[in-house]
Amino acid sequence: MSQNFEEILLPIKSELKKMESYIERRFKKDHFFIAEVGNYVVQSGGKRIRPALMLLSSLCFGKYNKEVQKMSAILEYIHTASLLHDDVIDNAAYRRKKKTAKNIWGNKASILVGDYLLAKAFEQLVEIKNFDLMQLISTTAVCLSEGEVLQLLHKWDDASLDKYLHIIRYKTACLMAAAMQTGAILTNQPKHITQKLYKCGEQIGMAFQIVDDVLDYSSKNTGKELGTDLKEKKITLPLCRLMELLDPKEKKKVLQILDTPKITVKQIQDVTDKMQYFKVFDYSIQQARKYIQRAKKIL
Ligand code: FPP
Ligand code: MG
Repeated sequence: MSQNFEEILLPIKSELKKMESYIERRFKKDHFFIAEVGNYVVQSGGKRIRPALMLLSSLCFGKYNKEVQKMSAILEYIHTASLLHDDVIDNAAYRRKKKTAKNIWGNKASILVGDYLLAKAFEQLVEIKNFDLMQLISTTAVCLSEGEVLQLLHKWDDASLDKYLHIIRYKTACLMAAAMQTGAILTNQPKHITQKLYKCGEQIGMAFQIVDDVLDYSSKNTGKELGTDLKEKKITLPLCRLMELLDPKEKKKVLQILDTPKITVKQIQDVTDKMQYFKVFDYSIQQARKYIQRAKKIL
């Protein structure tokens, strides 16, 4: 049975609302500029997937722990910090149909408020006084950053599907994995169970990033600019798959595009047309579905 996103969130709707008001309350204590930028980003239509995964994971085991609100806010802080940084790295002007913080306040403000939110997340994590959670969340922050560094170094001459999967496991899947494990830790589950929840969240995260990478080329509804990944020369599954399927002459043409200092809208369209022709998006979505099947099996 497939459910829509609203239905899935129904059992945790009030907890998500509580998390949002908790974050709003905490921002009131911050410097007005941090509160302005922070509120703008946190309120800008995110899907709250990480807190949702944590809350749903907790629900698998019965009731919530009293720290659940703080912990869901911590996950959202870390995610928001990573997006503030990511939009600077990707030079992104729009996200979720709204101007990015870097577009409004500039790179320095985006980076610094991101740093602040990350620091704030750790300050609150310490307040929870749970060593397992401290270990999990700090390792996760390292993972996120490492994933982004690996992505920065990922070049066409050594491009491979394995590298791509490794990068998305680090930059995206590990936070979703940690979110699900956190839900189980907060309800005092034994280690072998909390680790299963980690694995489940990891599969969901892999699927999520693959779909995000497909939408980057194929959807006008993401609120981001179409083809940003190509413009930023990011090697994602659609591009990896296309390169596998092209004959040497066509491949050379795409490599020439990737070599241009400033990729044009026309060039993005040409590559996207080739992707459509070779059904690269269908293939990628099939791969994402495989991860979802694995997540279901673990559950
Ligand atoms: C979005 O990817 C970005 C991430 C999932 C991770 C970003 C992480 C960092 C910048 C490291 C900083 C780490 C911490 C702990 C603050 P994307 O650009 O493919 O997706 P998008 O389309 O949503 O931009
Ligand atoms: Mg980005």
